[in-house]
Amino acid sequence: MTADHYAVFGQPIAHSQSPRIHAAFGRQEGTALDYRAIDAAPDNFAAALEAFAASGGVGANITAPHKQAAFAACTTLTSRARRAGAVNTLLRKGDRWHGDTTDGIGLVRDLTDRHGLDLRGRRTLLIGAGGSARSVAPALLDAGILELVVVNRTPERADALIDAMGEPGRAITRYWEDMRELGDFELIINATSAGHDRSADFKLPLGLVNSMTTAVDLNYGEAAIAFIAWARSAGCRNVVDGLGMLVEQAAESFLQWHAVRPQTDAVYAELRGEHALAGED
Ligand code: ATR
Repeated sequence: MTADHYAVFGQPIAHSQSPRIHAAFGRQEGTALDYRAIDAAPDNFAAALEAFAASGGVGANITAPHKQAAFAACTTLTSRARRAGAVNTLLRKGDRWHGDTTDGIGLVRDLTDRHGLDLRGRRTLLIGAGGSARSVAPALLDAGILELVVVNRTPERADALIDAMGEPGRAITRYWEDMRELGDFELIINATSAGHDRSADFKLPLGLVNSMTTAVDLNYGEAAIAFIAWARSAGCRNVVDGLGMLVEQAAESFLQWHAVRPQTDAVYAELRGEHALAGED
């Protein structure tokens, strides 16, 4: 049987876990697939995607920094991708690309199914307003959170995110400088890339946390160390990194392509064995 071609596009891409995750899902489901990592510079992304399609590519994952360029390359989009303004999953339909974003549903699946959390009614603070924040915000609102407060270093980007959500009232922005006056939250999500800068440290107000707070960093590994350390010192009830979301978003992409949602526990356990939650051995 000839395997269909799939790929993940990004830059850098060498350390992406996606080829490995999809290969494991394919073995598990008895689906032959050829999934590779393609390194594409931003000004070469559109051409690389076209070449991939011409060579028989039928599906792709998209990671930084191409999620918005991929959005622009799509002829059709799911409504959640339209709200996010970014896509991480492409599906070839005829000679066109159909785009979806599975990051948000991946996050929600990780928090609800793996961590057993009920998101309904949670007052939620989303820190950051870049591609990652845009990708998860619609799914959080759809999961029934009470209120989404978005804080970003550059306030205009937070305003743009809220405008795209189309839920004025339930989703609002506040200034970073005013974080001390926001009260407390049952869910706090770090969607910034600040942790990639080793000199950055998270000095968020302790008053954001209450006895129920779950803190989530969408990053994992070294990039999550600073926020996770803050969340622990602030006394958060649950502390979660982005490794589970990574596996769950992949499973949702696999579902789009192969019409079956793979079991994720084995792959998650394998990756967790290699990437301890920051601060744990
Ligand atoms: P991604 O796709 O990972 O979201 P991005 O679109 O470049 O990447 O967005 C990065 C996010 O991290 C933004 O919210 C950014 O804030 P700005 O919009 O003000 O740039 C945030 N960020 C990056 N470094 C940060 C830092 N040191 N402190 C606070 N926020 C930071």
